[in-house]
Amino acid sequence: MTARILDGKACAAQIQAELAGQVAEFVTRTKVVPALDVVLVGENPASQVYVRNKALACEKVGMRGRLYTLPQSTTTAELLELIYRLNQPAADQPATHGILVQLPLPAHIDTTRVLDAIDPRKDVDAFHAENVGLLVQGRPRFLPCTPRGVLELCQRSGISLTGRRVVILGRSDIVGKPLANMLLQKGADATVTVCHSRTREVAWHTREAEILVAAIGQPRYVTAEMVRPGATVIDVGINRDAMGKLCGDVDFDAVQQVAGAITPVPGGVGPLTVAMLLLNTLTAAQLATNCTPLTP
Ligand code: GUN
Repeated sequence: MTARILDGKACAAQIQAELAGQVAEFVTRTKVVPALDVVLVGENPASQVYVRNKALACEKVGMRGRLYTLPQSTTTAELLELIYRLNQPAADQPATHGILVQLPLPAHIDTTRVLDAIDPRKDVDAFHAENVGLLVQGRPRFLPCTPRGVLELCQRSGISLTGRRVVILGRSDIVGKPLANMLLQKGADATVTVCHSRTREVAWHTREAEILVAAIGQPRYVTAEMVRPGATVIDVGINRDAMGKLCGDVDFDAVQQVAGAITPVPGGVGPLTVAMLLLNTLTAAQLATNCTPLTP
């Protein structure tokens, strides 16, 4: 058996086409163009590509994307100063609706202080403590982009989560923890296990999974033996292997022989993360203009 390939690129393109229509309707109604400010500190090559893609994607759906690139030597205080300015732009500055600070930040910067400083109503990543709390309570303002992308891809591919055993590899604040929370909510109704670096017998857990999500940042960690035949395998990892080749957390060639459905890397979850960011930016603009958000 060879797995069905879940085409994240096509799914994201469809969402962005729908979104372009919603943005046009919003602009006509309010005369406000949704705007996202993306902040990058340092010269991480992967982050440079991601932030450029995020800003460009905004323009493609009729929003404004502005990129702020700061040097590696930027201090926490200097970054906070920029965020305060973006939170409340001066009267002669263009309004901004969403603020995204690309992670990871250089080690000398206090990431928690930075994320806490973003106005929660502009926090399109949903990393601010207030937005995490709202999510956990089941009344989200924004849904975090990558976990939302995973759910959206399942939904649009006809993969039901209700009552399913979902195993997540990785407990990061960006993917593992928020995804587990979203899957637990009423409406998603999955049964969730989160494995992490201290989990014993990881393969025993993963073989139980009807849906397996890998988000640990280890090239080709998930092997065919770890996967239940027919399972859906969602690969959130974006790594470079020893040869410098782009790959996910899943050994794609071997696992696609066992799985029922699988996401490729690239072209799987990545494009959906960007599409969900755009959705959140529209939501932020709707909140700022007192329009009823269509989403989440
Ligand atoms: N780094 C990796 N993924 C993300 C993300 O979704 N948002 C931000 N801000 N940084 C990231």
